Amino acid sequence: MNWPAEAIWEAVSPALAGFTVEVLPQVDSTNTELMRRGRAGRTEPILLVAQRQTAGRGRLGRQWQSEAGASLTFSLGMVLAPADWSGLSLAVGVALADALHPRIRLKWPNDLWLDDRKLGGILIETASSTDAESGARFTVVGVGINVTAPAASGLSTAPAWLQEVLPQIDAGQALLQIAAPLVQTLQAFQTFGFAPFQARFNVRDALRDRAVALTDGTTGTAHGASESGALLVHTALGMQAVTSSEVSVRPAA
Ligand code: BTN
Repeated sequence: MNWPAEAIWEAVSPALAGFTVEVLPQVDSTNTELMRRGRAGRTEPILLVAQRQTAGRGRLGRQWQSEAGASLTFSLGMVLAPADWSGLSLAVGVALADALHPRIRLKWPNDLWLDDRKLGGILIETASSTDAESGARFTVVGVGINVTAPAASGLSTAPAWLQEVLPQIDAGQALLQIAAPLVQTLQAFQTFGFAPFQARFNVRDALRDRAVALTDGTTGTAHGASESGALLVHTALGMQAVTSSEVSVRPAA
């Protein structure tokens, strides 16, 4: 696989001093690796791409499994100091979807969907940085996207892959399309928060007006993201703003 590392660096570095691109043939997890570096005080902005992860991680302690060459797995690490962190994963989803294809939908709070199947996921973690008093944190935005048809996975729902809508794309080209818009999005989020992304999220919201069930047993109808990135769910008790990252949402049967 030929990664367009230089083109990515040229697209991103004018807006991000000290930015580097690093491609590893194998690592346990690009998020784990950047979190290790961040905790060790290495907080310069970096895009770390892995051809293969041996211990890829998803949200809520889940694994993220991907075949080498069949998916794009990377993490972007940079120091951010937004006044309010809420909605960051939604803004990242908007950046990824807008950079890739109009048909991609977003499933609150962290998934990219195509035709109701999971195309990719986002895992954001932070470590305190040297100027922690300012609220700044080293932020690791990890992204996994299926690019080619995955081998039969045994998952209850078959996943989606990017070449379904972009037959010519490979992982390197996808990353080149994503990298600069993603950095711009993180910088805009730092300054303005989630509010400017709300409408862009809601046009891509996969759950909108659909019956949903929360893991705490609540059911209702999803009504998009609020100005702070909470999922609005109309339940028997009225409109609820769902924010907990421990609550997952699925379309009701
Ligand atoms: C999810 O769907 O729960 C999030 C999946 C995130 C996977 C990506 S792959 C690159 C980065 N490194 C990891 O270990 N996880 C993220």
